[in-house]
Amino acid sequence: MLSCECKSLEYCPLFIQVSLFNLKHIRHPGSFFFKKTIPIHRSLRIRRNTNMKLEQIIKERRSIKRFKDQPVPLETIQSLLETSTWAPNHKMTQPWRFVVVHGDSRVKLAEATRAFMAGKEKDPSKKKEAGQRGYNKLNGVPMFVAVIMEENPNLMTREEDYAATSALIQNFSLLAWEQGIGMIWETYGMIHSQEFREALGVKPGEKIVGSLHVGYPDMIPTPRPRTPIDELLTIMD
Ligand SMILES: Cc1cc2nc3c(=O)[nH]c(=O)nc-3n(C[C@H](O)[C@H](O)[C@H](O)COP(=O)(O)O)c2cc1C
Repeated sequence: MLSCECKSLEYCPLFIQVSLFNLKHIRHPGSFFFKKTIPIHRSLRIRRNTNMKLEQIIKERRSIKRFKDQPVPLETIQSLLETSTWAPNHKMTQPWRFVVVHGDSRVKLAEATRAFMAGKEKDPSKKKEAGQRGYNKLNGVPMFVAVIMEENPNLMTREEDYAATSALIQNFSLLAWEQGIGMIWETYGMIHSQEFREALGVKPGEKIVGSLHVGYPDMIPTPRPRTPIDELLTIMD
């Protein structure tokens, strides 16, 4: 049994490090004077915690697909993006820019996805259904952060820029996790579609590197194991 010292489970400043597999309940002071336990199910409920070690954040971060119906503060995301831009980038190209879509404007993206998915479906009788599936995938995501990269005509620079932008996205993902905010990096087909690009105002010569779905996690998936390092590492003495 674990306990923490805050008044509210929702905004507990301490990170309750819970083994996904072992712990069924936590005891919380806010719950009937310590008498009640709160089910954790199989998902880890993350809390804002500024004491998390980098190693812990890296290992415990998960790609999040299910979010709470709770808006993410724009200022927080703006600040996290600002910090994320300290990613390494060769020759200081800083090839990125961002479009944040939240609130009512999310419908625009969901509608663009509907149009794309319906257009892709070859069977006319299934177009509507395919469009609705696309719409549903995006509907309910609290916030989208499109990470857009300038595509340098030089292949080497373009590859380096893609690597740098990927480093930035990982920075963002870890910083967000530290704040109790989850995300998934999506590279679904529609990021290359005219409908999606237009909805986001992406210009010719720009590439959407990722559509990040951002929000407070409702469910944190069980981690998928990684290959042990001794199977990957060659040491040359
Ligand atoms: C470049 C990139 C693109 C990804 N695109 C998708 C995607 O389109 N759909 C998806 O479900 N997950 C996508 N992911 C997330 C991976 O599926 C996820 O990282 C992987 O399953 C490991 O899970 P974890 O992030 O929780 O450790 C992407 C990840 C990366 C790095």
